Amino acid sequence: MLGNHAISAGLKVLAGILEREKARGGDSVAISPEAIAALQDLPSVIHGRRQALAAACVPVEVAAVVAPTVAVAAAGEPIHQIPAAVVKPAPVAEEGRDEAWRRAQLNAIFKSVKNAPEPKALGTLFETVVFASGNPSAEIVLVGEAPGAEEEKLKKPFVGPSGQKLEQILKAMGLSREEVYISNIVKFRPKKGDGRFQGSSNRPPTHEEMASCLPFIRAEIEVLRPRVIVALGRTAAEGLLEQGGALGAFRAGTHQFGGIPVVVTYHPSYLLRQEAVSPEEGKIAKRQVWEDMLRVMEITGLPISEKQRNFFL
Ligand code: URA
Repeated sequence: MLGNHAISAGLKVLAGILEREKARGGDSVAISPEAIAALQDLPSVIHGRRQALAAACVPVEVAAVVAPTVAVAAAGEPIHQIPAAVVKPAPVAEEGRDEAWRRAQLNAIFKSVKNAPEPKALGTLFETVVFASGNPSAEIVLVGEAPGAEEEKLKKPFVGPSGQKLEQILKAMGLSREEVYISNIVKFRPKKGDGRFQGSSNRPPTHEEMASCLPFIRAEIEVLRPRVIVALGRTAAEGLLEQGGALGAFRAGTHQFGGIPVVVTYHPSYLLRQEAVSPEEGKIAKRQVWEDMLRVMEITGLPISEKQRNFFL
C-alpha cells in the first residue's frame, strides 16, 4: 500500500504538471479512464475520514485548470457538481488586472456563490452568503473556515470574537483589515441538525461542505494573486492544501497554492481558547501565531521593527 508521503508527492507532481499546462496556455488535459479510476481510488488509500474531501478535491484541481466537471464521492457516486457558474477570470494582461477589473471579477464570483445549487443541495448549510471583505488589491489574503452566527448576521467574515482577535493581530503587524483581504473556505454558516434550534452556536464545516465551496476561494485567489495566503487553522489549511494533517505539522512545513506561498497558523479562536485556559497558555499560543505573522511580514517585505521582532518574548 502506498504511504501518505508517496501519495502526497505524487499529487504534488500531478499539480505541477497541471500548473505547467496552464502556464503554457493549455485549456484541457487528456485523462484516461484508468487514471480517473486511480484518482477516485486515492481516498480509500489515504484515510477513511478524509474520503469525501480528497475524492472531491482531485477533480476540483483539474476543474480549476480545465473546465467545470463532476466531483465524485468515494463510492463513485456523484455528490455534487463543481459549480459551472464559477467565473474563472478570463485571461487578461497584467496591466489589465487593475482594481476595477478585480472588483468586477470578485462581484461575479459573489453572484456565482449566491446562485450555486451545490452547497444548497447538501442541506447542511444556512442560506445567507457570507463572502469576503477587504482590499481587492491586497498582498495578503487570510482564509478562515466558515462564518459563524455573527458573521451571518452582518454578512461579513470575521466580525465576531475571532474577528476582533484577528484585527489585533493585524494591528500588531501595522495593518488594518481594510488593507488585507479576508475570506473563508465555506461561504455559508454550517447548520447543527436542521438549524432550527441552533441559536448562536456554530460548528466547523465538513469536508463535503468545503468541497462544495472550494471553487469559489480558488477563483478569488486567482483574481487577487496575493503575495501570501494565510490559512487560519487546520480546517482552512486542509481545504486549501487538499491534505489532512495536524496544525503543528502544517506550521512546520512550507506550502504553496498555485505558486503563492501559504503560511498556516492557528485560528484566532484557538488563541481565545488558550487565553481562557491561562494567561501563560495564551502567551505561548500568541507567540506561535506571531512567529507565523513575522514570516508573512518577511514574505511581503513589510518593515519589522525590533519591538515587533521581540513581541511576546
Ligand atoms: N471563523 C471563521 O473561520 N470564519 C469566520 O468568518 C468567523 C469565524
